Amino acid sequence: MGWGWWAQRQCRWAPPPPSPSHSSHWKLALLTLMAWGAEAARGGSNRDPPRCDVFQGSWVADSSYPLYDPSVCPFIEREFACLRNGRPDVAFAKYRWQPLGGGCSLSRFDGHDFLERMRGKTIMFVGDSLSRNQWQSLTCMLHSAVPNTKYNITRQDDVSTFAFLDYGVKVMLDRNVYLVDVVREPIGRVLKLDSIQGGKLWMGIDMLIFNTWHWWNRRGPTQPWDYIQDGKQIYKDMDRMVAFEKALTTWAGWVAANIDPAKSKVFFQGISPSHYNGTQWNEPSAKSCVGQKQPMPGSTYPGGPPPAVAVLKGVLSKIKKPVVLLDITNLSLLRKDGHPSMYGLGGRTAMDCSHWCLSGVPDTWNEILYNLIL
Ligand SMILES: *[C@@H]1O[C@H](CO)[C@@H](O)[C@H](O)[C@H]1NC(C)=O
Ligand SMILES: *[C@@H]1O[C@H](CO)[C@@H](O)[C@H](O)[C@H]1NC(C)=O
Ligand SMILES: *[C@@H]1O[C@H](CO)[C@@H](O)[C@H](O)[C@H]1NC(C)=O
Repeated sequence: MGWGWWAQRQCRWAPPPPSPSHSSHWKLALLTLMAWGAEAARGGSNRDPPRCDVFQGSWVADSSYPLYDPSVCPFIEREFACLRNGRPDVAFAKYRWQPLGGGCSLSRFDGHDFLERMRGKTIMFVGDSLSRNQWQSLTCMLHSAVPNTKYNITRQDDVSTFAFLDYGVKVMLDRNVYLVDVVREPIGRVLKLDSIQGGKLWMGIDMLIFNTWHWWNRRGPTQPWDYIQDGKQIYKDMDRMVAFEKALTTWAGWVAANIDPAKSKVFFQGISPSHYNGTQWNEPSAKSCVGQKQPMPGSTYPGGPPPAVAVLKGVLSKIKKPVVLLDITNLSLLRKDGHPSMYGLGGRTAMDCSHWCLSGVPDTWNEILYNLIL
């Protein structure tokens, strides 16, 4: 089953063919046009120039949020179930993302509509636990919209599948923290920057949402490899940002070789930020996100985006097939209040300021994803 409506949209707003030096502009334009298209579809004027960037904006209190009561989703894992784990404040879930600029509002997520649009299709998140966070958010957003429809959760190896049986929609998660391969060899576990056999699982999926970053800085006992291989060279270690860029480039090559844009839509979930250092939000005494109850006001985060964002955008600007960056870094940076802190998996002993409570911030990532396919 193809993406008739998607192809049609690409024709209607066909950007000039990408030349290597202009491809980043082309992708930015595509994003803006998509947001513009969504706006026009809601009654905005086609005469207005494209000006709506859904990723720039601020958080506004809105008592009609959260989009769901997390207690109706028993399948939300303990790691993200902050209220179930005893988080006493609830205001953090009552914010709506408001893009800048008049007439540039997001459509509220409509789970039934999403399922109808995706009927018979398969969606797959690929990445680390931040992908799991977004996957659980989406399955709960959909399930809470159609609570009486049958679902089935299954798992095989690293792939979990949440199937909405009445719609033929599968929302899958492939846990793959580096996207490139880690292979057990006689010398030990080797992280192979130019091997991406894991991609076999991504073939033929209608919508793919990739992510990798948080594991690139792992060291010590939780680092899941012993050597890095780049081409024929084997290293004990190397600059992690360089390794990250090489792996992303391998992934971009996979997309170029294997994705048919008429059949599959590819997104990259941007870098999800952590909040362990209060200096970054002008509160130097804060050593973690614990006790944070409000987002940053306005649109700017004093600490600026993590350096991995520039690396990611650099690779995406050179990619040969359309990939839409779900650029959630800035909006999530403002949400120092959105993490589980001591109401996550580790309790008081392992402060979690990396993942996000559900309901919460990843619901907005999915609400934006929904707006991008309207
Ligand atoms: C994110 O913030 C940085 C500065 O902190 C800015 O340069 C960039 O344009 C912002 N991106 C978006 C999508 O708002
Ligand atoms: C759920 O999925 C499993 C594995 O694919 C399958 O064997 C089972 O029949 C499914 N259950 C329903 C109710 O469809
Ligand atoms: C916190 O951030 C500030 C400003 O970016 C930096 O100077 C400082 O070293 C950081 N502290 C820690 C413990 O990482």
